Amino acid sequence: MANLFEPLEIGRYTAKNRIVMAPMTRNRSEADGTLNDMNVEYYRQRAGVGLIVTEGVQPSQVGQAYINTPGLHNEEQVRGWRKVADAVHEAGGLIFAQLMHAGRIAHRYTTGEQPISPSATTAPGEIMTTQGRVPYEEARALETSEVAGVVQDYVTAAKNAIEAGLDGVEIHGANGYLIHQFLAPETNHRGDEHGGNPQNRARFAVEVVRAIADGIGADRVGLRISPNTGAQGTNEKPGPDSTATYDALLDGIEDLNLAYLSVLGDADAELTKHLQDRWNGPFLFNSGFATVTQLDDAEKIMEMGADAVVVGRMLISNPDLAQRWQDGSELRAPNPETFYQGGPEGYIEFTD
Ligand SMILES: Cc1cc2nc3c(=O)[nH]c(=O)nc-3n(C[C@H](O)[C@H](O)[C@H](O)COP(=O)(O)O)c2cc1C
Repeated sequence: MANLFEPLEIGRYTAKNRIVMAPMTRNRSEADGTLNDMNVEYYRQRAGVGLIVTEGVQPSQVGQAYINTPGLHNEEQVRGWRKVADAVHEAGGLIFAQLMHAGRIAHRYTTGEQPISPSATTAPGEIMTTQGRVPYEEARALETSEVAGVVQDYVTAAKNAIEAGLDGVEIHGANGYLIHQFLAPETNHRGDEHGGNPQNRARFAVEVVRAIADGIGADRVGLRISPNTGAQGTNEKPGPDSTATYDALLDGIEDLNLAYLSVLGDADAELTKHLQDRWNGPFLFNSGFATVTQLDDAEKIMEMGADAVVVGRMLISNPDLAQRWQDGSELRAPNPETFYQGGPEGYIEFTD
């Protein structure tokens, strides 16, 4: 078993420790998806982890889920990310952008367009938009002829990440966003080659991963998945279908030698163990939202044989968490009220 504070080879890089900052949406960028000085400072403060994975970043306008989230689909956004990359590198860190296409977890009030998804479905619940909190609207099913264009949007965003000087990208295949909507039978009722059986439902994920790997090099591409967590109406259940779906996904990408696979889920689930057993590269793990990841949880995750631990909320409230865990210093509890609200408090400033 590796120690949390040992380096880890991640693709073409060496992470200085095995604490990976979880992707976390913070809604502190500008309305047009550009970045600001606060965003630069936020990431700079957290460069002590082995690898920062940024908040979810929209690869296209229609792919934006929430308000004030950053994009990677125009020049001005790239300029902002360049400042982030420079600041993190100066502070000795590594940073991958999480490419998150919202699919149906979106609303036209924010994006100006009807959301897209594999099928015409509506996500459960409500979403905060530029015009307040509203129920989700029905997504439009992508035409077969449109799918390749969406894959291309991911590739362009990945290339933009590299142009900005970011070290790589994490493809968000988890938590009920677009890629997960293709994987899950509940949200994918397509009759073409992107729907139906597990192989077909995994196809979009495979295409996105392969196209990005081809575009920027597999050794700076990671993939995040959350099988059977049920997130945002995906409702996957443990059983032969989900095992076959995630096997088809890994079958389709394992020859690439990606930088890593990051799994969010139940450590004791058979499927988690199965995916960990068969994955031949770095395996990153996060146990999910139910409990906040503390040092003893992180150590348990290393004991289960993970190569690195993905840590979210404790890094919101303790930017220098790696140092604090190593020294045994006192920790500040995360304050959920500041997670998604704008402003510096609970983001780059802590007055408590
Ligand atoms: C404020 C907040 C925003 C999040 N945004 C994202 C996101 O953009 N992409 C993603 O994959 N997961 C997101 N997550 C999930 C985290 O990456 C992580 O899985 C979760 O916080 C559980 O880990 P923890 O117990 O260490 O916080 C978010 C979680 C929080 C608390």
